[in-house]
Amino acid sequence: SSTTGKVSKRAKVNLNIKKDNPKVVDTCDIEEIGSKKVFCRCWRSKSFPYCDGSHTEHNKVTGDNVGPLIIKKGD
Ligand code: FES
Repeated sequence: SSTTGKVSKRAKVNLNIKKDNPKVVDTCDIEEIGSKKVFCRCWRSKSFPYCDGSHTEHNKVTGDNVGPLIIKKGD
């Protein structure tokens, strides 16, 4: 079986973002980051590639435990 419990191990990660594009790639210039940028890793953000907090609902609904990547400069 390809499933464990009720979660398929082969389900798509990206459900809605730029689905016309064969591969979603985002670039962020390091000079434009400022002191901090928060990047989405759950693919549920309405402002992808940035995190908008949608991972909280995704985790609640699915039992997942994903969160953003935070890039910051200094302290
Ligand atoms: Fe996707 Fe926060 S919205 S990691």
